[in-house]
Amino acid sequence: MRILVINGPNLNMLGRREPEIYGRETLDDLIALIRDHAAKKGIEVSFYQSNHEGDLVDAIQGALGTADGIVINPGAYTHTSIALLDAVKAAGIPAVEVHISDVTKREKFRQTSYIRQACVATIMGKGFAGYTEAVDLLAAYGDGK
Ligand code: DQA
Repeated sequence: MRILVINGPNLNMLGRREPEIYGRETLDDLIALIRDHAAKKGIEVSFYQSNHEGDLVDAIQGALGTADGIVINPGAYTHTSIALLDAVKAAGIPAVEVHISDVTKREKFRQTSYIRQACVATIMGKGFAGYTEAVDLLAAYGDGK
């Protein structure tokens, strides 16, 4: 099982970005957490972060043949990007949408998610733990559970 974890814009700023919402831990801390978790389960994980929509499209397309599942936090592109939705559909790889915060309890403009309709699940409001839950979910999904 190989899982690609994709983080979108501003998630490289974790730790300093609105800590009251996203916490004080950094992207490196997040990566270490997922890496440890996946290693215990024998799951291979790789990571990608970009602030650029087209680069994220390229990363999703690039998962074809190299990953069996995608965990994606598209950041603000969640709420705007049909291109990311189309990329997940085109890749045809099971994907889980993750948000650190509970976007349902936030601004109106965060209530739309384009990518959601191409994802097998959405996990939000669980902080960094949402990512490890997404990894587990994809592993179970891969096992046909
Ligand atoms: C986010 C929520 C988005 O609305 C926001 O634009 C982000 C992070 C989250 O993880 O809670 O960048 O995806």
